[in-house]
Amino acid sequence: MNQKPQKNIVLIGFMGCGKSSVAKALGKSFRMEVIEMDEMISAQQNLPIPEIFDRFGEEYFRDLETALLEQLQGRTGCVISCGGGVPLRPVNVAKMKALGEVVLLTATPETIYTRTCGDDNRPNLKNRKSPEAIAELLEQRRPSYEAAADYMVATDGRSVEAICEELVHRI
Ligand code: S3P
Repeated sequence: MNQKPQKNIVLIGFMGCGKSSVAKALGKSFRMEVIEMDEMISAQQNLPIPEIFDRFGEEYFRDLETALLEQLQGRTGCVISCGGGVPLRPVNVAKMKALGEVVLLTATPETIYTRTCGDDNRPNLKNRKSPEAIAELLEQRRPSYEAAADYMVATDGRSVEAICEELVHRI
C-alpha cells in the first residue's frame, strides 16, 4: 500500500458510519497508533459511555470530549476516531483541524440503521430505532459534519479495505 500519511487522520461521522473499523484498518496498514475517543473517555472516567450520559448528562460528556481533544494536541502518527458528536462544537472543529486531516465518513440512514439497530450502547440512538428517526438527527448534524470535513468518503455497501484505499489516495 502507500506510505504512512504525514499527518494524523481524524475520522468523523454519524454513529455507525464505520469510524472505528476504518481507524483499526488504517492503524494496521500504516502502523499508526489508533486513538478511540470514546474508549479513552470511558477509561479516564472508569465508566461506560451510557453511564456517563445517565449520571452526568450529555453536556458533561461533551466537555470531556473537548478536554480530550485538548490533551491530544501535539500527538503525531495517529488515527483518531472521534465520537459522532465531536464536530458539533466549533471549538472541537478547530482542535481537530489542528491535529490533522479531518475525514468525514458518510452512510445513508438505512445503512446506519442496519449497522446500529442491534447495539444498545449509544444513548443518542436509544429512541431512534428507525431509518426515519436516524435521518432526522443526521440532517440536524449534517451542516456541522460537512463544515468540519477536509474530505468525505461514502461507506455504503463498501468494504473497509475499499474505504481505506480511497481515503489514503486522497490524503
Ligand atoms: C455519540 C456517538 C458515540 C458516543 C456517544 C455519543 C453521538 O460515538 O460518542 O454515544 O452523539 O453521536 P460513535 O459515533 O463512535 O458511536
